[in-house]
Amino acid sequence: MNTSDRPNTPDLRTVRMALMLACRAPSVHNTQPWRWVFDGTQLRLHSDTDRLLHSADPLGRQLVISCGAVLDHARLAFVWMGWFTDITRFPDPDLPGHLATLEFRPWPGALNTTAARIRAIHQRRTDRLPMLAPPGWLDVLAAVRDLARPHHVSVDEIAERNRPRLAAATEHATALRRYDMPYQTELHWWTGHSDAKAGVPAAALVSDSEAARVDIGRSFPAAPYSVRRTDLEDEARLVVLSTLDETAAQWLHTGEALSEVLLECTARGLATCALTHITELAASRSVITDLIPHPDVPQVVIRIGTAPEDTDYTPTPRRPLDEVLEIATA
Ligand SMILES: Cc1cc2nc3c(=O)[nH]c(=O)nc-3n(C[C@H](O)[C@H](O)[C@H](O)COP(=O)(O)O)c2cc1C
Repeated sequence: MNTSDRPNTPDLRTVRMALMLACRAPSVHNTQPWRWVFDGTQLRLHSDTDRLLHSADPLGRQLVISCGAVLDHARLAFVWMGWFTDITRFPDPDLPGHLATLEFRPWPGALNTTAARIRAIHQRRTDRLPMLAPPGWLDVLAAVRDLARPHHVSVDEIAERNRPRLAAATEHATALRRYDMPYQTELHWWTGHSDAKAGVPAAALVSDSEAARVDIGRSFPAAPYSVRRTDLEDEARLVVLSTLDETAAQWLHTGEALSEVLLECTARGLATCALTHITELAASRSVITDLIPHPDVPQVVIRIGTAPEDTDYTPTPRRPLDEVLEIATA
């Protein structure tokens, strides 16, 4: 079919396939706090505030970042299926939960350029175990900075000499949360269940002995005893994504940049873990602010390393598409 014969909008089957892929995006506690509406012409992304983490994320910052990640995954999935998306972010000032509207233009021939990214969407996962150092680190850092820049998101490395300060901030955050009952109740609600379609399953968590070898990580309910990657102390590098300000638009862009960074690392064979336990509390967040060379607002820390090929992996679950996609009349 030549381009002029093609319709201007993908059909429903294409939209469903693209969104199945997009919904592999990471989200805080695997809450998947998004809702899609397709009216036959436009595709709209809304936040699902029923899935807001009231204790960990009262402002909805991580909720919007998660939606930014699914938005970027969707953009890539549509490119792969031959569709360019024109994205309007926050199209209606009266509806802050309407995060984006996507309109389509045929883009045949784009498939080859996105094949590696699509493979990365399938392969990416959050790795909470200790990692080896990433090879070619300066190249990786340069590449992820380039990918985040169009979103006005800075990527700064935490120098190894400053790592102990971040580890201390992690301990501080863990101590502050230990007797925070609403936070703990919420965390337990979202983690450790094996047959749920959302949340962090037990298989994705680490045992106490494994967690003890990762100095910077959120304290989750421990998985049963296991000693994977024995003797490995975490050598992952740490980067911080930060924004000029603290607005919903910048949170959405942060999520899009996060998606780009995670997929680039995955495509390079690296392991990643997004971390927000230290950005969600003012006390630990200010430690990061001191460690980056500008006054931007730290949003997400990412551990980037190499995973030894010894670890079984079952993908974390996702909600059925029909729960997150509504078909509306135009
Ligand atoms: C905004 C955001 C914040 C996150 N914060 C953390 C965190 O603090 N600690 C952690 O281990 N994982 C964190 N994650 C990773 C999610 O738990 C993970 O994406 C989700 O459980 C789905 O699993 P998957 O990434 O393996 O597909 C975060 C992800 C996002 C998008």
